[in-house]
Amino acid sequence: MNALTQYIPDEATMLRFGKKLAETILGCHAKRAVILYLNGDLGAGKTTLTRGMVQGLGFQGKVKSPTYTLVEEYNIAGKMIYHFDLYRLADPEELEFMGIRDYFAKESICLIEWAEKGEDILPPADLLVNIDYYDDARNITLIAQNDLGEQILQQR
Ligand SMILES: Nc1ncnc2c1ncn2[C@@H]1O[C@H](COP(=O)(O)OP(=O)(O)OP(=O)(O)O)[C@@H](O)[C@H]1O
Ligand SMILES: [Mg+2]
Repeated sequence: MNALTQYIPDEATMLRFGKKLAETILGCHAKRAVILYLNGDLGAGKTTLTRGMVQGLGFQGKVKSPTYTLVEEYNIAGKMIYHFDLYRLADPEELEFMGIRDYFAKESICLIEWAEKGEDILPPADLLVNIDYYDDARNITLIAQNDLGEQILQQR
């Protein structure tokens, strides 16, 4: 199995999906950064999914969209989650200036919105998360890009 589609009728289901996905990723005990590209149109629910993941792991505070800051970080019991939104990135080179490599060097979880803006500089994804929407409902398709991605899919 290298892809899985799930119907998400409402926001609460999206948040639960995020929690479960984050728990599954932790359960894989990867010895390197786990990289997810969150793909989908404006308002598809990429940040909402991220909120489900981050709060689902126990983070109590607000999860803001990093549209202007490019990245928000969360330390959850020692596990780092980096949430990128590259929508406003003018030039992929900016990623070099912000020290992007350090984020991917740790055993973190990296969630990246608008990854196409960082093409050629970002490392490849382990798992693609594609979100399609119709009114309030969404379809999420998870697509494994390598063995780690498949492991995440299989444990769900
Ligand atoms: N089934 C659903 N799943 C997720 N979000 C939903 C759903 N139904 C409605 N929504 C609403 O859709 C919006 C999704 O916004 P969100 O910021 O998560 O999108 P995004 O993909 O991150 O957009 P952007 O590219 O602008 O950052 C929220 O206002 C959320 O409440
Ligand atoms: Mg967003």
